[in-house]
Amino acid sequence: MKIFLDSANLDEIKDCLEKGVISGITTNPSLLSKEPKTAFVKHIKKIVSLCKEFERDIPLSVEVITTDPEEMITQAHQLVEDLAYENLNIKIPIGWEELAVISNLSSNGIEVNCTCLHTEAQCQLAANAGAKYVSIFMCRIKDIGGDPIPVIENTRSLLEISNSDSEIIVGSIRHQRDIFEASLAGGHIVTASYKVIQSMVGHPQTDVAIE
Ligand code: E4P
Repeated sequence: MKIFLDSANLDEIKDCLEKGVISGITTNPSLLSKEPKTAFVKHIKKIVSLCKEFERDIPLSVEVITTDPEEMITQAHQLVEDLAYENLNIKIPIGWEELAVISNLSSNGIEVNCTCLHTEAQCQLAANAGAKYVSIFMCRIKDIGGDPIPVIENTRSLLEISNSDSEIIVGSIRHQRDIFEASLAGGHIVTASYKVIQSMVGHPQTDVAIE
């Protein structure tokens, strides 16, 4: 089971890289807004430096900060140029017009993580358009009374039926239980916060046993 760290916090990223437990990093505008108000790209460059410091050129997802499709393409190319990071994935939210952005970027060699997905149909369209990753928001589906497990299971089956190279990232994880449910349902990757990943190591009986 591949775990990505869902964070833009440098200390959290460094700690997880040191422990060797993550296979990638996902960021989003909300996470970045929690960090010190340095320039957006300057902060992402610090994340890139940490990945290189640990010789972990792992996948790093950075989301565009516009809703205009043309501007998304411009920002994507600018991020690729500014960051010069081999394993950079550009996060593009799902939408009818955004599918052309995904298709354009992926056909120009820029890897896309299509995000804000909540249905099999959205995932299939994103994969068909060329997204490397399709990010399903597990707990946001639950928030409105939905069941994310069939969405993950069905998406995995549909991607395999269509011989797609796209991988499912399950995000919107709020408890370690979500991580295992998402993985056992067929999620290739789960992206979780530092707090949730750290919670995976603890158990009261472990403390007793060690004591
Ligand atoms: C991951 O890529 C997503 O941006 C993130 O997990 C969304 O989580 P949220 O539902 O807490 O915003």
